[in-house]
Amino acid sequence: MKNYISIIFHSIKLILWKFFYCILIFVSRLLRDKKIGEGKTRRVYSIKFTHKVVLKIAKNSPDPNKNEWNIYKHLKGTHLENKFGRCYAISCDGKYLLMESLSDVSPQDLVNNRVQMPIWVTDRKVSAYGSDGINIKLRDYGITKQCKDYINSPMMDFPSNNDIESMEKIMSILN
Ligand SMILES: Nc1ncnc2c1ncn2[C@@H]1O[C@H](COP(=O)(O)OP(=O)(O)OP(=O)(O)O)[C@@H](O)[C@H]1O
Ligand SMILES: [Mg+2]
Repeated sequence: MKNYISIIFHSIKLILWKFFYCILIFVSRLLRDKKIGEGKTRRVYSIKFTHKVVLKIAKNSPDPNKNEWNIYKHLKGTHLENKFGRCYAISCDGKYLLMESLSDVSPQDLVNNRVQMPIWVTDRKVSAYGSDGINIKLRDYGITKQCKDYINSPMMDFPSNNDIESMEKIMSILN
């Protein structure tokens, strides 16, 4: 009996959250403003009346949006939460994702702040990072490596020794 009650309670909670996300996404679509960025898989828009969130719209596959949503939910409440752009809501089909707005950073910012990311992070571009004014966070983690333990996996520096080695190789070829 107790089990049934908890299943019913969790189902109602889930439905209410989905409903809340639908409303948030609906409002953000209505208030969609300028395009502020674009990658291979998504277009990113600012929202009228707020500088705190952006709307990421999948061009084709919704998988990058879904991956960001699932990873953020998984890391919420752990020591890694502050390293990843906060995801507020996703549409049922994954086409729309509402994420906190993170301002651009320079490569120097990443080095000065000794940014470290778990080894399953694959996007090493500077534009994949952004700042909330206090923390430097990853704002593009739509594609990541599969990992058994996302929370306790080893960390790597930016730039990693691997990055430096490949850059040295490229430079030596160019010279
Ligand atoms: N949370 C954010 N806050 C502010 N700007 C963002 C945010 N997320 C993305 N952007 C901007 O939009 C651009 C494209 O977003 P994003 O990198 O997530 O798309 P993508 O399709 O996954 O890109 P890529 O092809 O590089 O993997 C970013 O380079 C950045 O300029
Ligand atoms: Mg990407």
